[in-house]
Amino acid sequence: MVFPTDISAMQAATPADTRGRQLRDLRISVTDRCNFRCTYCMPKEIYGRDFQFLERSQLLSFDEIHRLVTIFKSHGIEKVRITGGEPLVRRQLERLIAMLASDPDLDLTLTTNASLLRQKAQLLKDAGLRRVTVSLDSMNDEVFRAMNDVDFPVSKVLDGIEAADKVGLNPVKINMVVKRGVNDDSVVEMARYFKGSGHILRFIEFMDVGNTNGWKMENVVSSRDLVERINTVFPIEPIKPNYVGEVAERWRYVDGSGEVGFISSVTQAFCRDCTRTRLSAEGSIYTCLFATEGTDLRSLLRSGASDEKISDVIGNIWRARTDNYSETRTAETAKLRKVEMSYIGG
Ligand code: GTP
Ligand code: 5AD
Ligand code: SF4
Ligand code: SF4
Repeated sequence: MVFPTDISAMQAATPADTRGRQLRDLRISVTDRCNFRCTYCMPKEIYGRDFQFLERSQLLSFDEIHRLVTIFKSHGIEKVRITGGEPLVRRQLERLIAMLASDPDLDLTLTTNASLLRQKAQLLKDAGLRRVTVSLDSMNDEVFRAMNDVDFPVSKVLDGIEAADKVGLNPVKINMVVKRGVNDDSVVEMARYFKGSGHILRFIEFMDVGNTNGWKMENVVSSRDLVERINTVFPIEPIKPNYVGEVAERWRYVDGSGEVGFISSVTQAFCRDCTRTRLSAEGSIYTCLFATEGTDLRSLLRSGASDEKISDVIGNIWRARTDNYSETRTAETAKLRKVEMSYIGG
């Protein structure tokens, strides 16, 4: 593997996009597979027996991912989030974590459905992972089993969260996608459960990612509405973001028992400060969650391109970036052939 001898020369070229946004976060999908079939993400009608997932040879190897992360770092990346599909179904993921964690400046984290978290938590912690985000859509077992559509019980997710907490992968963030008429009556119960636990619950507005999840605006419950519902039972007040461009709006319980977050990508888009880019499991980069196309880096990697060449390609893509999908969503743009969430990661 050849690394550039003068990283600082590459850093000097760190670009902003056409809207003045820097590149700060890289989200890496390590597999397009998942053992859940959440109805808002991988509906069974589409992701059934015949669905063609990526072959092993199409996936970037851990060495290839590591090399790209090193190059991305020279463009200003400070945070790496490992996603999927479900990242823990990728064999020996802890090896990749160890490779990336050898860089102490990188904020390294992972989003998981927690189904394999109990058995993996210690390995991940030992490999150098800092914290995890867990998806959980309801405390009501019947509702949750129906939403993940593989009959997976709430208790096992809670077990995974506890295991992560115990080994120090904390604070654990919990993501709840709220869909009207499906799990919105679980909102207060979720707040009650995680209040005072030290974990941070975040409510996510159901989004129109991809084209297969049957998204309708009428199924979106706005964060404003959710704040009201929580506040009526447990008074909350807004607090300052941890950093510019933080996706979740932070609120804290007035009684001091912790915080909750609201991710309002539909009703209050946050494209203005979006510093994120995404790397698919097969090595294409997408500069927006709602992108219609990506740029293949795997061919470059496998054709012997130098780090400088790959770095130039990344810089040029970012400089040309115009994305602001959520701020400008229309019935027309919603119909475009967009990349799927399970392919590109959350
Ligand atoms: P931390 O602050 O490091 O915990 O990360 P985060 O707030 O970015 O959280 P996370 O990566 O878990 O993102 C939470 C959810 O917000 C994702 O699962 C998506 O549903 C949504 N989200 C994250 N980034 C974007 C984005 O760029 N655009 C849109 N529309 N939604 C996003
Ligand atoms: N809208 C909002 N959030 C979604 N996620 C997956 N699909 C959607 C969607 N359509 C969330 C998951 C998980 C993260 C990877 O993204 O719940 O927390
Ligand atoms: Fe799997 Fe996460 Fe998608 Fe659910 S939201 S199907 S757990 S990738
Ligand atoms: Fe960023 Fe695209 Fe999400 Fe806007 S819609 S915040 S540009 S990923």
